[in-house]
Amino acid sequence: MISTIIVAAGSGSRMNKSIPKQFLKIKNKSILEITTSIFENSELIDNIIIVANKKFFKKTELEVIKFKKVFKIIPGGKTRQESVFKGLKILKQLNPSIVLIHDVARPFISNILIKKLITKAKEKNSAIPILKENSTISLSTKNKIEKFLDRNQVYQHQTPQAFDFKKLFEAYTKFEKNLSDFTDDASIFFANKNEVYTIEGEKNNIKITTNEDLLFAKFLYDLKK
Ligand code: C5P
Repeated sequence: MISTIIVAAGSGSRMNKSIPKQFLKIKNKSILEITTSIFENSELIDNIIIVANKKFFKKTELEVIKFKKVFKIIPGGKTRQESVFKGLKILKQLNPSIVLIHDVARPFISNILIKKLITKAKEKNSAIPILKENSTISLSTKNKIEKFLDRNQVYQHQTPQAFDFKKLFEAYTKFEKNLSDFTDDASIFFANKNEVYTIEGEKNNIKITTNEDLLFAKFLYDLKK
């Protein structure tokens, strides 16, 4: 069995909007609906857990109740990683072989990417999409460079990230007290001495964080239609 946890419990504070970004609309669909529909329509995915912002729990329910694969909608935690761990705990009762963890704010994942991730995770216990860095990269404070880095050695991490369920659960359990030290699931999996395997991510798999991202997302959505 292959499960997906969609984390959607953020407040979207960087957008200065009164509602979290997952409820913003592209055409007439919310980001939450677009993202959930991709997993709903993937023949490789058996069920979906939605981790919702407590303050917008009813609104989340109303938007995703129509999706047949949504097994449970649960309230999130204080940080992204707490939200993921809550989802993993619910999944224990289903005991999937592979779990995909996905940020709701990335509504442009392709079926090809989902397939590649699952294939590799079945073989290697982990698979995450990464993108090569094309710009010059440095370690800097806000107004001064400290050090230049070799851009050929740095990569951006995307979601979904796919893992052997048991091994990811073990890693989260081990680092339960330090979850806020991590910003994605690969880093927790890695910290528990597991190898993290990568595949090439997709440029269109953008994370909607700012108002400019939302504008670009609307443009991308039109292109795909
Ligand atoms: O804040 P950031 O954009 O890094 O959040 C990444 C993802 O984690 C988003 O999908 C957001 O909804 C989710 N999140 C969560 N619980 C939190 C904070 C963020 O599910 N407490």
